[in-house]
Amino acid sequence: MATGSAGAWRFLSASRKESDIQCSDYFFLPRFFFASARARCFAVAVGFGLIFGRFAPEPLELPVDLVERVRLAGILHDVGKIAVPDAVLSKPGKLTDAEWTEMRKHPEVGALIVDGAELKDVAAWVGKHHERPDGKGYPAGLAGEEIPLEARILSVADAYEAMTCDRVYRRALPVKVAREELRKGSGKQFDPRVAEVFLEWLEEQDRRGESVENDHFASLVRGLADRNPV
Ligand SMILES: [Fe+2]
Repeated sequence: MATGSAGAWRFLSASRKESDIQCSDYFFLPRFFFASARARCFAVAVGFGLIFGRFAPEPLELPVDLVERVRLAGILHDVGKIAVPDAVLSKPGKLTDAEWTEMRKHPEVGALIVDGAELKDVAAWVGKHHERPDGKGYPAGLAGEEIPLEARILSVADAYEAMTCDRVYRRALPVKVAREELRKGSGKQFDPRVAEVFLEWLEEQDRRGESVENDHFASLVRGLADRNPV
């Protein structure tokens, strides 16, 4: 795949024409924004947890600007979905194999867009946020440490955000179920250390009475989804 802004523009031009832009784009945008804002919040919590050793046995040797870069990556991780057809994004049922092929392009498209903005490090993580430690992810099927830590953080943040918010094809999972899914996927879909730090952080929020599943982001996303059913 071509790199840089020229590559991103070529890909987007081929996949979306101006005439394809529909009213639903304007409804989707705020929902994507809030979903990204929640993913950013979760990714930053893990970044702090790993750097300062909170919720984990010991701090990791990590660059001091990791949290700031992960914050940016959290916002941008799904930007490639602008190249996925509305019919796929808003489909209320299961995707066909062909539709999954379209959906699975979004990390690479996102990486092209972010790379074009000269955010080289963030672009690499955006392009790998659907890779899995067990090698069963996409687009490259990378495994374990081949996946940058930042991409493993995005993966956990993105998955939890997706599970705990309504989608057009299903309602949000109960919090307990979503957390159990993270536990079950630890070491397979999710980096075990990242998942552990994140789950500890969630429990800390519970103890402080600041459950993130009930925060204003989630209720705003729900409100938008209810007002703009697609
Ligand atoms: Fe994604």
